Amino acid sequence: MAGSSMPPVRIGQGWDTHRLVPGRPLILGGIQIPSEIGLSGHSDADVLFHAVTDAVLGALALGDIGMHFPDTDPEWKDAGSIQFLKHALKLAAQRGYALANVDSTILLERPKLKEFRGAIRENLSCAVGLPLDCVSVKFKTGERVGPVGEGLSCEAQAAVLLAASPK
Ligand code: C5P
Ligand code: MG
Repeated sequence: MAGSSMPPVRIGQGWDTHRLVPGRPLILGGIQIPSEIGLSGHSDADVLFHAVTDAVLGALALGDIGMHFPDTDPEWKDAGSIQFLKHALKLAAQRGYALANVDSTILLERPKLKEFRGAIRENLSCAVGLPLDCVSVKFKTGERVGPVGEGLSCEAQAAVLLAASPK
C-alpha cells in the first residue's frame, strides 16, 4: 500500500546487452525476428524486455534483474522474459505504482527492425498493460563502430515513469 510520504512519480532507466551468436533466436520485445544470428543468454535473452524490467526495478530502487532472477538458477533457463517484466510490474503495483509510459531504444547493426516496429510495440504495450501511444520503441545501428556496430552484440535502453495509482 502507498504511504503518505510516497513520491507521486518515480523515474527509472535500464540497459542490457547480449552477444549475437549463430543458432539462437533473435527475440525482441517478445517478437521473434527472422535472422541467422540471435541472442545468447540463460533466458530467451530478450534484451528489450530485460532493459524495461531493469528500468521498472530501478524506479522502485529494488536492484536489478539478476538479483530477482539469477542466471545460475535452472528455473530461468530459456525462460520467457515477459515473466521478469510482469514480476517487476507486480512489485510496482504492490507498492502503489502503475506504469505511465515507456521509452526504449534497441541498438542493433542488422537485421533492420523497422518493419517489426508495430509488432514489437504492440507486444510490449500488451505486456505492460499500456495503450500504444504510451509505448515507444526506437532503433539505432552502431554506425559500424564498437560491439554493436561490428555485429557482435545487441543492446537495449529503456526509460519508464511510474505514477502513484489513485486510491
Ligand atoms: O543508426 P541510424 O540512426 O543510422 O539508423 C537509421 C534508422 O534505421 C533508424 O532511425 C531506425 O529506424 C532504422 N534501424 C532499423 N533497424 C536497425 C537499426 C536502425 O530499422 N537494426
Ligand atoms: Mg539480458
